[in-house]
Amino acid sequence: MTVCELCRDGALAMLGQICKPRLRKRARKPGVLPYLCLVIATTTVFAVVFFDCIESWVTSARMNADLEPHAGIIPLQSVPPTRPEEFLLMPSPLVCQRAKPYIITMVTSAPANQRARQAIRDTWGGEVEVTGLRVMTLFIVGVPSDPALGKLLIVEARERGDLIQGRFLDTYSNLTLKTLSMLGWARRFCPQAHFMAKVDDDVLFNPSALLHFLNKSRNPYEHGDLYLGRVHIRVAPNRDPSSKHYLPTGTYSASVFPDYCSGTTYVLSRSALLKISLAATASALSTPLPPEDIFVGMCARAAGVLPSHCPLFSGGPRVPYGRCCYQAMVSVHRVAPRDMLRYWADLHTLPPCSWLSVRASLGLCKVRAWLGVALGIKQDV
Ligand SMILES: *[C@@H]1O[C@H](CO)[C@@H](O)[C@H](O)[C@H]1NC(C)=O
Ligand SMILES: *[C@@H]1O[C@H](CO)[C@@H](O)[C@H](O)[C@H]1NC(C)=O
Repeated sequence: MTVCELCRDGALAMLGQICKPRLRKRARKPGVLPYLCLVIATTTVFAVVFFDCIESWVTSARMNADLEPHAGIIPLQSVPPTRPEEFLLMPSPLVCQRAKPYIITMVTSAPANQRARQAIRDTWGGEVEVTGLRVMTLFIVGVPSDPALGKLLIVEARERGDLIQGRFLDTYSNLTLKTLSMLGWARRFCPQAHFMAKVDDDVLFNPSALLHFLNKSRNPYEHGDLYLGRVHIRVAPNRDPSSKHYLPTGTYSASVFPDYCSGTTYVLSRSALLKISLAATASALSTPLPPEDIFVGMCARAAGVLPSHCPLFSGGPRVPYGRCCYQAMVSVHRVAPRDMLRYWADLHTLPPCSWLSVRASLGLCKVRAWLGVALGIKQDV
């Protein structure tokens, strides 16, 4: 019996306890209470099993679908092409022509995070073909302030051939420059890929779950715009000067940002990548730069691309480990390298979960994640 099954049975037993005493009193003349209990129990089970669908509806209903009147396509000619000189390290410019990836995954990583990169190569990053479609994983870093680390990166790039290094100092406040670099690189050197996924280096990403999701939604995006992830709705800019996310009114005047996908993981279709990347290159960069994911959201809005919410992307509270739940999730964030290896092995040693176990496990791990937030269990953001 899995933990999830235990929890489910526990919840049902608890509901039984609440209902039982009243049931006994009215045993002779059954009133509405037994029916009420039955309705509550059924609703609870359905709510857990279809938690992700409910989340999808609620989020989509709250999303702001109005585009600004001037939003639209930026002509390709007005933006200079990405130059190879913008990158200090990169794989062969022909890497995508040779590998012909269906999905290219760009992992934004810090120079010092070698262990995280290795864990990714040893787990999901090592998958080169999923259900007959090719996937390719590359890492993007900036310039470290420590020259010794820079030398290690050169060695790593030569040995692994999967590093891209942009010409900017790799600091937290420069993350937006990393994204600009990433978009520019993918636009110039990997226009063949049908989809690009941007993933942080502490994310357990699941290419086969993503392919399954795209296939299930009958993949209408293959030739259209898709900007998919966990959508953050109506987020207000941080006006506290002491915060590292401080954005003065002079830099961004509106009271809320356009809805955007959480930066932990998002997916862009080829046409969305082109439009967003052109909008990003054409936009005047403010100082301080808005955070990476908000910047992409602003560029998407300027390019006329709306975000789509998928409950299988994490990005809010940390999702606790559950085998069937992780099998269905497209991405789970805040996973340490050691856990990534452990979870990946566990996910692949046992046979795939049944439909019902996936539903129940997914619902329960999401309920646990939100309960953790509600009960104030510490989550560093
Ligand atoms: C961001 O990168 C640029 C270019 O390397 C550098 O001049 C600047 O100091 C960096 N900004 C921060 C805050 O580190
Ligand atoms: C998509 O689904 C169809 C059947 O619904 C299946 O035959 C096909 O292999 C799937 N493709 C991928 C990439 O999963």
